[in-house]
Amino acid sequence: MKFFLDTANVTAIKEIHRLGVVDGVTTNPTIISKEGRDFEEVIKEICTIVDGPVSAEVTGLLADEMVEEARTIAKWADNVVVKIPMTTEGLKAVHILSKEGIKTNVTLIFTVSQGLMAMKAGATFISPFIGRLEDIGTDAYQLILELRNIIDLYDFKTEIIAASIRNTAHVERVAGLGAHIATIPDALFEKMTKHPLTDSGIETFLKDWEAFKN
Ligand code: G3P
Repeated sequence: MKFFLDTANVTAIKEIHRLGVVDGVTTNPTIISKEGRDFEEVIKEICTIVDGPVSAEVTGLLADEMVEEARTIAKWADNVVVKIPMTTEGLKAVHILSKEGIKTNVTLIFTVSQGLMAMKAGATFISPFIGRLEDIGTDAYQLILELRNIIDLYDFKTEIIAASIRNTAHVERVAGLGAHIATIPDALFEKMTKHPLTDSGIETFLKDWEAFKN
């Protein structure tokens, strides 16, 4: 199970990277816009901090536009992955890029069929959106389970990035269901380390130690 960080905040990436649990980073245009920095500059900087895959998303809607953007983005760093939206134009782009050896992350996956189409086109990663599926009352966990079954049954090389992760339960459930990766917002990483009984346990141990020493 790998953890990616779903942020473009370099300060947060550097800090959380020190925990030794970060295997990659994902971004999207919304995440990049929050930083108010140049797209290329921030992606290049993230790629120097993290060794694993760093997803940077195209904004063109036509296959030719996506391919052109992807070829440029792919030159920014060895570990950059080009994020492509799940559309027919996106699939055409993924097909071309996979033949060129450019890694892709097909994003905004909401159904098994979409996932299957992306795998067939040659996606390196697919990103089903957990939180947004729950927002519309759909069982996101069933989607993860079925996508993983298909990958294993037919030996697809595509890896599942469970995205739109909003709470610790999301991470725990997708881990148990076989998502290869969960991409986690930086604010959630701290919550994943915490429990009130851990804090009160430490406090008691230290109090008892102080009493023993005196
Ligand atoms: O990983 C995708 C993510 O950035 C979108 O999350 O919470 O806006 O659905 P959310």
